[in-house]
Amino acid sequence: MSENIALIGGGRIGEALLGGLVAAGYEPGSLTVVEPHAGRAGELSERYGVRAVAGIGEAVDGAGLVVIAVKPDVVSAILPDIAAGLRDGAVVASVAAGVPTAAYEAVLPAGTPVVRVMPNTAMLVGKSMSGVSGGRDATEGHVALVRSVMEAVGEVLVVPESKLDAVTALSGSGPAYAFLVAEAMIDAGVDLGLTRDQATTLATHTIAGAGALMVETSPSPTELRAAVTSPGGTTAAAIRELEKNGLRPAFYAATRACAERSAELGRST
Ligand SMILES: NC(=O)c1ccc[n+]([C@@H]2O[C@H](COP(=O)([O-])OP(=O)(O)OC[C@H]3O[C@@H](n4cnc5c(N)ncnc54)[C@H](OP(=O)(O)O)[C@@H]3O)[C@@H](O)[C@H]2O)c1
Repeated sequence: MSENIALIGGGRIGEALLGGLVAAGYEPGSLTVVEPHAGRAGELSERYGVRAVAGIGEAVDGAGLVVIAVKPDVVSAILPDIAAGLRDGAVVASVAAGVPTAAYEAVLPAGTPVVRVMPNTAMLVGKSMSGVSGGRDATEGHVALVRSVMEAVGEVLVVPESKLDAVTALSGSGPAYAFLVAEAMIDAGVDLGLTRDQATTLATHTIAGAGALMVETSPSPTELRAAVTSPGGTTAAAIRELEKNGLRPAFYAATRACAERSAELGRST
């Protein structure tokens, strides 16, 4: 895209986005990051060749897209500065968890298109699964612009904002579920007599391999599982125990608790 992008917040997620955009061919000169710590700003500038500044005003001025990547509790403090410097027609996107588009719309100049993004931690390796929702004044074109930016760091699904709590419950917090499954497999492997290193290698690469099969081949997860579950075999014996011990009900309950917590955080913003 030819628009200049201003990124507010050069933390873990901000850096992952910067790195992804530069790797995807975005001109570093079109990217400005706002980072209050001079040392960190210098580091980002050196690493990616982007402009790093301390003030929001000088970054937002001239930017066609402003991406907010600060912690949710910092959003309300920076919005007035963004509002003051925002160019006519600029789009504001935010990855801050739980903050609804209405909270931005209430402070930004009337009619400012706002797009909310729910990425996940796999963005750090360019493999985020991000949910994207347009606010009241965001057109399909504005959402498409943010979608193309987020595609530099992974996959994107556009959903209505009313579904973002569910997205948070599936993909936003989802990596933690996979890490927990890996931990459980590792402990179980140790129980079976493997060393922790052996169990860790086996569990992590197995989960990564299963993930690659799910996204790189066309069968559904159900078909993939059926294909490795022979009648009366070893996998069938294991699946029977996972079902008997409540794997599915645990996921229904866990994702519902996550979505409810996400909605609650959104209401308190
Ligand atoms: N990490 C995830 O997996 C994940 C997933 C989904 C959504 N998110 C969202 O992504 C956002 C960023 O998360 P993160 O993990 O990258 O947090 P982080 O590492 O703490 O990064 C936030 C950055 O913003 C900077 N900052 C603070 N106040 C600022 C200001 N007034 N102007 C400009 N920059 C300012 C911070 O600088 P200082 O360190 O100097 O304060 C820090 O570098 C959060 O809203 C989070 O909800 C994260």
